[in-house]
Amino acid sequence: MDITGASAILTGGASGLGAATVKRLAEKGARVVIFDLEKQTARGKSLADEVGGVFCAVDVTSTDDIIAGVDTAKEIAPLRVLVNCAGIGWAGRTIGKDGQYESAFNIDMFKLVMSINLVGTFDCIRLAATAMSQTEPLADGERGSIVNTASVAPSTARSVSARTRRPRAVSST
Ligand SMILES: NC(=O)c1ccc[n+]([C@@H]2O[C@H](COP(=O)([O-])OP(=O)(O)OC[C@H]3O[C@@H](n4cnc5c(N)ncnc54)[C@H](O)[C@@H]3O)[C@@H](O)[C@H]2O)c1
Repeated sequence: MDITGASAILTGGASGLGAATVKRLAEKGARVVIFDLEKQTARGKSLADEVGGVFCAVDVTSTDDIIAGVDTAKEIAPLRVLVNCAGIGWAGRTIGKDGQYESAFNIDMFKLVMSINLVGTFDCIRLAATAMSQTEPLADGERGSIVNTASVAPSTARSVSARTRRPRAVSST
């Protein structure tokens, strides 16, 4: 897709994979709009200035933030690209070493990761796609593209049976 002059949203664009993608899309002629947390404003603005883009303080767990950011992107140029890189990682054992409920995976961390990596990503998809649906199609009929980043970890995870020992049964004798 020719993205010259199109608006491109990068979630998590102030750092890591997102920041690298910001530079790549800007080189290809897109007007990049960086979505990242307020605490990343200094890094995000500096990168946005470097590539002629815009930084928006957007927490992807906030629908209101996302709508405000998408509206900003639409005002700059037709929105045709969304790349989702905002996310956090949290690795841990599903079953604790002592086999007790208390040491099982931290469920609050699991919920936090899901709220950002899964729900936040989908909220950005549905709202950016809605904005893209209102743009004029390009010559080939395409209006825009959405790219989501993921980890290879789920496909390389080792099986529970191979990695864990069954907790010892409590003897009553
Ligand atoms: N780098 C890798 O090799 C790798 C491998 C597998 C998976 N991942 C996953 O890909 C994602 C990006 O990785 P990265 O290395 O670029 O990480 P990173 O920490 O450098 O960048 C993530 C960015 O997302 C932002 N962010 C976090 N929560 C946010 C929220 N609620 N709203 C908006 N922005 C938010 C952070 O502020 C940060 O700028 C992460 O979820 C990471 O777990 C990375």
